[in-house]
Amino acid sequence: MPAIVLVGAQWGDEGKGKATDALGAHVDYVVKFNGGNNAGHTVVVGGEKYALHLLPSGILTPGCIPVISNGVVIDLSVLFDEIEGLTARGVDCSTLLVSSNAHLIASYHRTVDKVTERFLGKRRIGTTGRGIGPAYADKINRVGVRVQDLFDENILRQKVEGALEQKNHLLAKVYNRRKIAVEEVVEELLSYTDRLRPLVRDTSLELSRALDRGDMVLFEAGQATMLDVDHGTYPFVTSSSATAAGACTGSGVPPNRVDRVLAVVKAYTTRVGEGPFPTELTDEAGDQLREAGGEFGTTTGRPRRCGWYDAPISRYAARINGVTDFVLTKLDVLTGLERIPVCVAYDIDGVRHDELPMTQSEFHHARPVYEHLDGWQEDISGCRTLDDLPKAAQVYVKALEEMAGKPISAIGVGPGREQTVVVRDLV
Ligand code: IMP
Repeated sequence: MPAIVLVGAQWGDEGKGKATDALGAHVDYVVKFNGGNNAGHTVVVGGEKYALHLLPSGILTPGCIPVISNGVVIDLSVLFDEIEGLTARGVDCSTLLVSSNAHLIASYHRTVDKVTERFLGKRRIGTTGRGIGPAYADKINRVGVRVQDLFDENILRQKVEGALEQKNHLLAKVYNRRKIAVEEVVEELLSYTDRLRPLVRDTSLELSRALDRGDMVLFEAGQATMLDVDHGTYPFVTSSSATAAGACTGSGVPPNRVDRVLAVVKAYTTRVGEGPFPTELTDEAGDQLREAGGEFGTTTGRPRRCGWYDAPISRYAARINGVTDFVLTKLDVLTGLERIPVCVAYDIDGVRHDELPMTQSEFHHARPVYEHLDGWQEDISGCRTLDDLPKAAQVYVKALEEMAGKPISAIGVGPGREQTVVVRDLV
């Protein structure tokens, strides 16, 4: 049985839960390997809507073991709130595994996230304000606090002291904020120790053994390709590796164990936060997509910026991630349009670019070159096979597939689990 990596092809919120659902009962483990509670999955099961921020969506699949691996940054208050909320609704969270090497988000990370965004003014990133960037910065600066530190109070205190030393100077002297007391942080973190202990494992070893046994492991990326810290629209990105390779560093499972890479791509494009977005619609058409698609952030509630499908981005995602299959989501949102524009290339200062340009400055200047495809008027939410789709919708899907250069193996036609056109098996 394979290890599969699931990534977002655009700027996030493509609907990865759909692909997890399409894999369904085959999956033994679902691993979250990057990001933290900046993510937001909305999963609809049996008419019930679940908004997950930190827990992998596999938590909703009975028999599937959810794993938070080393590449994640964990806000423990959010983790236990989410576990309690789901448990109250009858979801079994007892099998969750958490890596001892994962880093923790503490209150000072959230504070630093917010004050730096405010300080950046016009140059702000538009972060979720959850402390993600500052927690990863501490990790790279080697002043991070990890899950395992909770099991040694002296070490924990030393680490928190180390982390706060510079930050308190910065908070007080640059940002005019109050200093954060070491004991306050230590006490808060220690209050989670007993609840966390039974969940903590060497998750790299667990996953390696699971693969040896022939179990199927799904690595589910948070955020998406264009938000990856290396391969996205830097600096308007998140602070982690959201592309397929991140599944390996973020979990301790090597690249030669990964068999397939699925990329989820929306039938149009959205992004939250700042940064370039060539096909963005700032007019009524954008408002219509936002309303029809319910495009408001799961985590922050912010209205998402909306635009047409961007084929060079899908091609880029296919290449960077080594995509084997695409899962197209929200095709039903386009129902009712006369003609559907699709960006096939960019015009940058009068020159046509079929691929993403080399520099950010060029990308900021990119104007979409559109082809217009016929729309369809029929309700497609009940379609379950490719042949059920109206001819124009089939042509739209085929065109997207050809432009991205990889097969579209499943198509979302509504928010429900079962509202999926399965073109070919994903496993
Ligand atoms: P951060 O991840 O909170 O540092 O925010 C950095 C950028 O990534 C901002 O533009 C966020 O809006 C964006 N971002 C973070 N998480 C998500 C997500 O799950 N979906 C879409 N955008 C996200």
